[in-house]
Order: sequence, then C-alpha cells, then structure tokens
Amino acid sequence: MALWGGRFSTGTAGVVADFTESISYDRRLYKYDIIGSKAHAAMLAACGIIPQETATAIAAELDKIGARIAKGDFTFSTELEDIHMHIENELIRVLGDEGARVHSARSRNDQVNLDVRLYLRDEIIDLVAGIRELQRALVSRAAADADAVMPGFTHLQHAQPVLFAHHLLAYVEMLDRDRSRLIDCRRRLNILPLGAGALAGTTLPINREMVCELLGFEMVSRNSMDTVADRDFMCELLSDLAIFTMHVSRFSEDLILWCSQEFGFVELGDAFCTGSSLMPQKKNPDIAEIARGKTGRVYGDLMALLTICKGLPLTYNRDLQEDKEPIFDALDTVNMLLKVFPPMVASMELRRERMLAAASDPALMATDVAEKLVELGVPFRHAHHRVGAFVKWCRENGKTLDGATLEEMRITIPEATPEFSRLFSAVDSVGRREVTGGTGPDHVRKQLEFWQEELS
Ligand code: ARG
Repeated sequence: MALWGGRFSTGTAGVVADFTESISYDRRLYKYDIIGSKAHAAMLAACGIIPQETATAIAAELDKIGARIAKGDFTFSTELEDIHMHIENELIRVLGDEGARVHSARSRNDQVNLDVRLYLRDEIIDLVAGIRELQRALVSRAAADADAVMPGFTHLQHAQPVLFAHHLLAYVEMLDRDRSRLIDCRRRLNILPLGAGALAGTTLPINREMVCELLGFEMVSRNSMDTVADRDFMCELLSDLAIFTMHVSRFSEDLILWCSQEFGFVELGDAFCTGSSLMPQKKNPDIAEIARGKTGRVYGDLMALLTICKGLPLTYNRDLQEDKEPIFDALDTVNMLLKVFPPMVASMELRRERMLAAASDPALMATDVAEKLVELGVPFRHAHHRVGAFVKWCRENGKTLDGATLEEMRITIPEATPEFSRLFSAVDSVGRREVTGGTGPDHVRKQLEFWQEELS
C-alpha cells in the first residue's frame, strides 16, 4: 500500500508505477532529503508537534538510512515512487509510529523543492570551482606564450594582429561572467521552501525560521503557493549552464579551426585527440567537437524545463517531476566539460611561426596606416577612404601593401611619409595598442598578472 493509499481501494496498475516513478533518478537527492528531514524533525520537536525522543530517533535512523544508501545497501523499488517516499517508508518500517510522525506539516511538494535547492547549493560551489580551474588553465597557457602574435578575426577574415594571450584571456572574461551568474543564481535560490506544505502552509504551529537557520538559508519563502510552484531557480541555473556551454562551444570552434591544416596554429596533445578507423594519418580534435555538440544537449535541457513550466496553473502539478532529469543531465554534462577542458588546454602546442606568418600580411596593418593619417590631422573617414584606395591600387597592380614605393603610396595617400613604410610589422602593430583593454603586450601582461592574482 502506498503511503498515500488511504482513500484508494486498489493499488495502481503495474504500468503506472513505472510511468510515474522518479526514484530511478531522484535517488541522487538522498543526502539532501535526509538533511532536510532531520532539520524538519528537530523543528517539529522544538515546537511540541512531536516528542523530542521521536525527533532524536528519527534523526538517528535517517543517518543510518543515509549510510546504507551511500554503501549501496538499500533497495529501491518503483512502487515507492520517489526518494522522499523511500526514506519515509523506511523510517516507518524501522520506527513504527515514531517514523509515521515525520511528515507532519510537510508535503512532498515543499520537500522536493527543498531537496533540489540544497543539492544545487552544493553543486554550484563545485561548478564555480571547476570554472576557476578552467580559467587557471587558460591563464597559464596564455602566460606560457605571452608574446605570440596571431591574426585576430572578424567575419572569420583576417582583421588585425593580436596576441594569442589576448585571445585566450577573452575566454577567461566570459568564464568569469559565467561564474558570477552562477553565484547570483545560488544567492537567489538560497531561500527556504519547507513549510509551504502542499500549497497553503499548515495548521500546525511550525517554526520555519528555525529550519531556515538550521539549514543555512538566507530567508524563508514568503508565499506558499509561489514556493511549491517555483522552478525559476532551476530555469536560471540551466540558462547559466546554457550560456557557459555556448562559451565552451565557441572556444571549441576556435580550437577546431586552429587545429585544421588551413590554420595550423595549434596542435593538441595526442592524449586529447583521436584517430580515424580508416585514415591512418588523421588526428582529430574530437573533444572540442563533442563539446560543441554537448552544447545542444544543454540548450535542450533548458528548453525542456521552460516548456514543462510553460502555462502550468498554480500550484504544484506532477509535470514538475520532469524538472530533475534536465537539471541532472546539464550538470553531468558541464561537470564533464570542466574535467576534460583544463588538461586539454594545457596540452596545446603553438605553431608560433605559422601564427605570426598569418598575422604578417601587410593588409592587416591597413588600419594602422589610417590611424597614422589621423595623427597627421586627416579626418578618419577620409583616411579610411585613402587607405582603401591604396589597398585597391595594390591589388590592381599586383603589389603587397608594403611592396609599394612611397611615390606609389602617394598616388592614393598624398600625406604618406617614409615612416609609413615601417607600419607593416605585425609585432609592432600589436605593440602600438597599449590602450586599456587592448592587445598591447604591456596591457596583456597586466591582464595576465591580474588574473594570476585573482585566481591564486
Ligand atoms: N516525485 C515528485 C517530484 O519529483 C515529488 C512530489 C510529488 N508530489 C505529489 N503531490 N505527487 O516532483
């Protein structure tokens, strides 16, 4: 007989247990169900709702159940539906009437909300630490080749020379926003839902503030109906993870391009690539590709949850049981990414000469020429036009920008001086960008120092 079986004359049809169960995945929450139940029982006793000895017995038995589940010495069955019922059922089996008191002033609707909040509080701490680790790997890799020059791209076309370190630090910035979004999410979810009951609170004289204190929540939820219906914090977490994976997929795409024969900027360690079953010569950046693919999966988790919640009337509806698998799946996926990316980043070998050669096309310094004209007093739009005409002239006359003589340059850029012919080194070009946030070596070094300090 189910714990809720009083008003039913038969048990559920066999297929119903399989269809409605969540134990196959929500057992992952067992630790938090136990922590929450212990605090709840302590409060019930403090408020005189159950005897103190009962609360003590419940707490001791909950610990035993937790230890047994941890050891794998606990039988789960779909008949008992979910982790909450399993644990309560076991309390009742062992403690009899004392165990039967634990669910006073509580519903699974507020209980499951509590368990997930407790679980995510811990998970987010691990995520933040993992992101820090990935940031560290990027910063170390950047610092090891702090002066390597490569072409920066817009529209995937060569744009201007940049430092490789500057490029990697761009990802460190993105990851930092991901980290701070997760911390925000944790702050917003750190609210006690227990005590909301099924939806309307309880007639029993509970003390929610005490449970709040015991479980280290920031505050008690204000509206019981909102509380049991609320999955915003899960949507928020999944949004944060979706943005994180979007960043990972962009980095992956950069890596995949850099490893291609056309770019040839980077070689990943053998331990972080795979071969082809047919083509003996292949060394493929599969980790980056799978990561790019996994991003779709995490977006799917977010879409699944948003769609589950869309249009649900207040308050709890069983649809909400479907919230946990997307959360677990996204967390598992992101945790995997956070494990594999730092060592892969560390394994990157740069082909600095190829990077520099690609950045050394004098056309990449066209902007430097235009800005030199601005220094000489030419309005920028005119300068842009003159250098554009120079680029066109060079193309039409089969010359590179640095191959034209001063006289030839003056056909389109009358203000050109001999100094102009010295504007075409990629290394010098980078060196001219010592502006806050720019790719100048001194500034990038300062950024590296900032992050080394920040992440130490
Ligand atoms: N297994 C359920 C879930 O994950 C727990 C809450 C069930 N509540 C209910 N009234 N059936 O959402």
